[in-house]
Amino acid sequence: MSDQPRTAILFVCLGNICRSPLAEGIFRQAVAQAGAAERFEIDSAGTGAWHVGSPPDPRSVDVARRHGIDLTGQRARRLVAGDFTRFDLLLGMDMSNVETMKAAAPAACSNRVHLFGAYATGRAFEVPDPYYDRGDGFERVYLMLREASDRLVDRLVRASVPPSGQVSSIR
Ligand code: 4NP
Repeated sequence: MSDQPRTAILFVCLGNICRSPLAEGIFRQAVAQAGAAERFEIDSAGTGAWHVGSPPDPRSVDVARRHGIDLTGQRARRLVAGDFTRFDLLLGMDMSNVETMKAAAPAACSNRVHLFGAYATGRAFEVPDPYYDRGDGFERVYLMLREASDRLVDRLVRASVPPSGQVSSIR
């Protein structure tokens, strides 16, 4: 187990304060519960720079805490060019995130960029930006990220499919 190469996964949204920090926390919990934490390097980033250095949005922190996940140690950072070579998978929350990454990615790394929901489940769903939501948007985002994270663990851990063998035709 320990001589297996680690799979590096970067979750990406716009601000890196709402969705991708929550995706990072949920996926960390999911791989830990599957006994596979040491097989992954996990991080998150935003395509925008407005919130660099900030902790996650309190609404993400709250919904995560209700589900036993602590996001308080996270700080927002911006996606950088080196992320395209450092990470095996760069998983965007919505198509805008994916298109921004595809435009910035070196050609040789473009196939590492995917829509998280599609890559994990085979169904092309986006995780919508909840930043301006005044209702239950963060709980709905949590449920979408939970489903996608669990399916990603199924594929990468339980089925042991290498990242390159995923449904790469689906963005
Ligand atoms: P996120 O949400 O991309 O899920 O972190 C957003 C957070 C902040 C902004 C937009 C989206 N903003 O415009 O500041």
